[in-house]
Amino acid sequence: MTDDSSDASGRTAPAGQAMWGGRFSGKPAELMQAINVSIGFDKRLAAQDLAGSRAHAAMLRTAGVLSAEDETAIQQGLATIEGEIAAGTFPFREEYEDIHMNVEARLRELIGPAAGRLHTARSRNDQVALDFRMWVRDACDRTVAQLRALQKALVAKAEAHADAVMPGFTHLQPAQPVTFGHHLMAYVEMFGRDAARFADARTRMNECPLGAAALAGSPFPIDREMTAQALGFDRPTANSLDSVADRDFALEALAAGGICAIHLSRLAEEIVIWMTPQFGFVKLSDAFTTGSSIMPQKKNPDAAELVRAKAGRLLASFQQLAVVMKGLPLTYSKDMQEDKVPTFEAFDALELSLLAMAGMVADLQPNIENMTQAAGSGFSTATDLADWLVRELNLPFRDAHHVTGAAVKRAEELGCSLSDLVLPELQKLDERITASVYEVLTPEASVASRRSYGGTSPDQVRAQIKRWKEILA
Ligand code: ARG
Repeated sequence: MTDDSSDASGRTAPAGQAMWGGRFSGKPAELMQAINVSIGFDKRLAAQDLAGSRAHAAMLRTAGVLSAEDETAIQQGLATIEGEIAAGTFPFREEYEDIHMNVEARLRELIGPAAGRLHTARSRNDQVALDFRMWVRDACDRTVAQLRALQKALVAKAEAHADAVMPGFTHLQPAQPVTFGHHLMAYVEMFGRDAARFADARTRMNECPLGAAALAGSPFPIDREMTAQALGFDRPTANSLDSVADRDFALEALAAGGICAIHLSRLAEEIVIWMTPQFGFVKLSDAFTTGSSIMPQKKNPDAAELVRAKAGRLLASFQQLAVVMKGLPLTYSKDMQEDKVPTFEAFDALELSLLAMAGMVADLQPNIENMTQAAGSGFSTATDLADWLVRELNLPFRDAHHVTGAAVKRAEELGCSLSDLVLPELQKLDERITASVYEVLTPEASVASRRSYGGTSPDQVRAQIKRWKEILA
């Protein structure tokens, strides 16, 4: 069914009849209403709906479709409604189904029959496409700001600990020493790409669907450039069918949200691991931990765990909307009313996660002593020994790898670290090894030597911190 609630004559629906009720003689079944009603959730589009209506009314007047008198009355009525919504006194009523008809019904109560002229050259199909697009656009902007705040928290923490050594892991096995600052800056890069994905999606979605009307465009002399500009869009959409039929802008934002949530969940997981007594790398204050009702010694990283879990919600939201949209024939189908709940839920969860993560990062107190100690364990400087053999003795890397493997084996037998192996032990493996090898076997030396662009040496880390501080300023 297309949306035929516009009525150029200004006549309004009789009491008890839906706004589209002209050709209906019966009332909808209660169950029909129950499944159809969306005001419970689409009331969140109120601000966008009002902005869209105000731009539409102003344009209709300029186009000569609406009299100055009616337009003034409509603008005043809409302003009153804005005030009612801000004050929490606006009556959201289920009998008016959705936000669009709730606003129109209230407008009619406030200004009388002129309210019926607002819907000229418009349909709920382009109206909802507009409102929802503006909501998602705002959500993208908010998310970028929240991501920037999180990045700033990470950069500040990284700067404070740019040369604190910790183990770097692969397979969650100690691999090579890195610095805590370097590790945190890895997430700054990830969240930077997330912000770019939201910004990119925003650019693509920033075309105005208003004026597509039900699906085919309008016979009235509307000015779509004017409404697009008034509502902050780059241009009007170029195909009326596409305008009311697609929700790819929301899918794209949800996809970006899902990827961002994956990044958040990985950082959350690391905080959980680092906080275990076995690792003891970081502490969170009481602000971001909870106790146990039975075990008095516990301090649990619940906030991190919940951020980790929210990824499920984000990824499910994408899936939910993708399944709703899949296989829908052009153009609008009521299925698309189901676009809002997953999108609202996803952005609510993402916002909470980003804020909580920024709070946790600022709160995080690293235990540098434990990190440094762990950085030196697990033969983490084995690669440095192999590299030394290549550099100083000109061994092919494969041979150096073999010699180093033998050194690790020997240290394991003796129950000591690589740097504790005495020179004669090392010389049994290759007699040309000299005492200068010990200079590369500490985690600090290992870290300082990795000066390649983007590497973990503190000067490289500081260079990236500087770059990001400029971007985030
Ligand atoms: N509440 C509806 C939605 O969210 C508005 C559009 C209704 N259009 C229609 N032709 N019934 O999709």
